[in-house]
Amino acid sequence: MKRMIIKNASQLVTCSGFTAKKGKDMNNLGIIENGAVVIQEGIIKWVGRTPDIPRQYEKVAEVIDATGKTVLPGFIDSHTHFVFGGYREEEYSWRLKGDNYMEIMQKGGGIVNTVTKTKEETKEYLIRIGMKRLDSMLTFGVTTVEGKSGYGLDYETEIKQLEVMRKLNLRHKIDVVPTFLGAHAVPKDYRGKEDKFIDLMIDEVLPYVVDKGLAEFCDVFCEKGVFSIEQSEKLLLAAKEQGLKLKMHADEIYDLGGAGLAAKLKAVSADHLLMASDEGIKEMAENNVVATLLPGTAFSLREDFARARYMIDNNLAVALASDFNPGSCFTESIPLIIALATLYMNMTIEETITALTINGAAALDKADYIGSIDVNKKGDIVIHEYPSYKFIPYHIGVSTVETVIKDGQVVYY
Ligand code: NIG
Ligand code: FE
Repeated sequence: MKRMIIKNASQLVTCSGFTAKKGKDMNNLGIIENGAVVIQEGIIKWVGRTPDIPRQYEKVAEVIDATGKTVLPGFIDSHTHFVFGGYREEEYSWRLKGDNYMEIMQKGGGIVNTVTKTKEETKEYLIRIGMKRLDSMLTFGVTTVEGKSGYGLDYETEIKQLEVMRKLNLRHKIDVVPTFLGAHAVPKDYRGKEDKFIDLMIDEVLPYVVDKGLAEFCDVFCEKGVFSIEQSEKLLLAAKEQGLKLKMHADEIYDLGGAGLAAKLKAVSADHLLMASDEGIKEMAENNVVATLLPGTAFSLREDFARARYMIDNNLAVALASDFNPGSCFTESIPLIIALATLYMNMTIEETITALTINGAAALDKADYIGSIDVNKKGDIVIHEYPSYKFIPYHIGVSTVETVIKDGQVVYY
């Protein structure tokens, strides 16, 4: 029997719960002072105060003393594009000169640039570089990450990206949740024929993805100049019919009504939402769609941040994620995301922790078994260096992670 006890934690921040936390409830972190956790066979067995640990558990166990430290659930990065070939470092300078994201795209940069490079790379290379990127995420305390395809825009490369993620999920300690984002950009040959491209995705790529179980979610870049509301709806409906859950890149640059569509389709999450309307936000709250906000992207592109305060005050469940990708946001840094969310989006520290744990889990429809320190959940736990969670944003931009425990095993320290 494999058993681990983490005890004497100055603060055990449980983030306790089995569903998304909405509105004010995001401030409730379920903190236990002098906390302890017992993990057995990778699953959390007991949670409470150290003096109350039942005697029977103390017999055979690996004991970790967390005196003076804070213990949290592993972070969940619920929106990334981490499997890609090549880089787009030149675009950073273009942005400094004033080009915006859409201008860069029209100039031949942007997503299609990464598509060309991802097509050229072998699966082996993408696995190798993917492992390195996941290793880096682990240093920030991430134990589950969502990853999207979308740098193929054709059958072969979309499938290649998804198969790479399947391999990475098996090979790396971090759990990888795959999303099919075949409609991420319009490839050159399909400019002006976007409807045809959507049909290609629906008729040829989607059935294979579903048949092989290569993705859990379907996502789409619903944006002016990319895919319209109608095109997005057609693809998402087809994906839903075939058993995939839904996500959307919605209302990032223009308010096309993406938030409303996510609500109508009962998507699990709608992401970005910089321009989302009051009405769209209301509809999302009513339909329990998680709002996944990506402040790293707004920061990198020098856009205005999403209205996190308004969303939370209007009873939305907000998650935060990195959006790690080679163009709009080349960072996997969770401390950066927390700094931006607290300092520029007026989120409380507690809200940001909830947004990266239980609400991140909810954004992946997995709140019933990850995202908090609760009995019967996975033993995905991170020990942070300082005695209070308040040090996490305070130590700006620096990881406070000391030890990462995944499925009840130390995987990073
Ligand atoms: O979420 N907005 C579209 N997709 C990504 C960017 C991908 C890229 O630029 O390579 C995003 O920001
Ligand atoms: Fe994205």
